Amino acid sequence: MSGAPAKPIRPAAPADVPALAALHARAFPPDECWGETAIRAMLGLEGGFGLLAGAPDGFVLARAVAGEAEILTLAVDPAARRLGLGARLLSATLDAVADRGAACLFLEVSEVNAPARALYARAGAEEVGRRRRYYADGSDALVLRITPPSGSTG
Ligand SMILES: CC(C)(COP(=O)(O)OP(=O)(O)OC[C@H]1O[C@@H](n2cnc3c(N)ncnc32)[C@H](O)[C@@H]1OP(=O)(O)O)[C@@H](O)C(=O)NCCC(=O)NCCS
Repeated sequence: MSGAPAKPIRPAAPADVPALAALHARAFPPDECWGETAIRAMLGLEGGFGLLAGAPDGFVLARAVAGEAEILTLAVDPAARRLGLGARLLSATLDAVADRGAACLFLEVSEVNAPARALYARAGAEEVGRRRRYYADGSDALVLRITPPSGSTG
């Protein structure tokens, strides 16, 4: 991708929570978006952390505990999509959980969410389960697993 240099990815801090909630509301339908209380709670989970880029233009919340990790949410502003930010956030998350000793990263994605499924497939995600009618629209959740890089130096 040519053009402006990629905005650096940095850890999310408590002061970022209002902006993250506003971004989540732009990125997800109203019945799926998380408010400040939920985002603060996710960041406060054992092993929980967030990464963001831009003002923010995109962020990920994840956790790594006892050798396993999961993505809790990943969101890119509709105005900033298809510029590689989702892929960079996913890659940074894989590095971060590898540094925390996780051997695998799990996530759930709606079977009808073609953009996210394409993003995860490119990262080598394997389908390891399915939760029937998991989402409010009646779609199934696919449970995916991605193996983080080994030997990450952070
Ligand atoms: C899914 C999401 C995070 C992708 O973010 P993004 O910054 O647009 O993704 P990227 O630009 O890094 O795309 C990387 C690759 O993913 C795939 N991809 C991303 N969006 C796609 C789309 N709309 N259609 C098809 N493939 C897509 C492509 O392979 C793309 O590579 P390419 O642009 O070179 O073809 C973003 O669409 C989003 O926030 N969606 C709403 C929230 C959501 O669904 N989150 C995931 C929940 S599990």
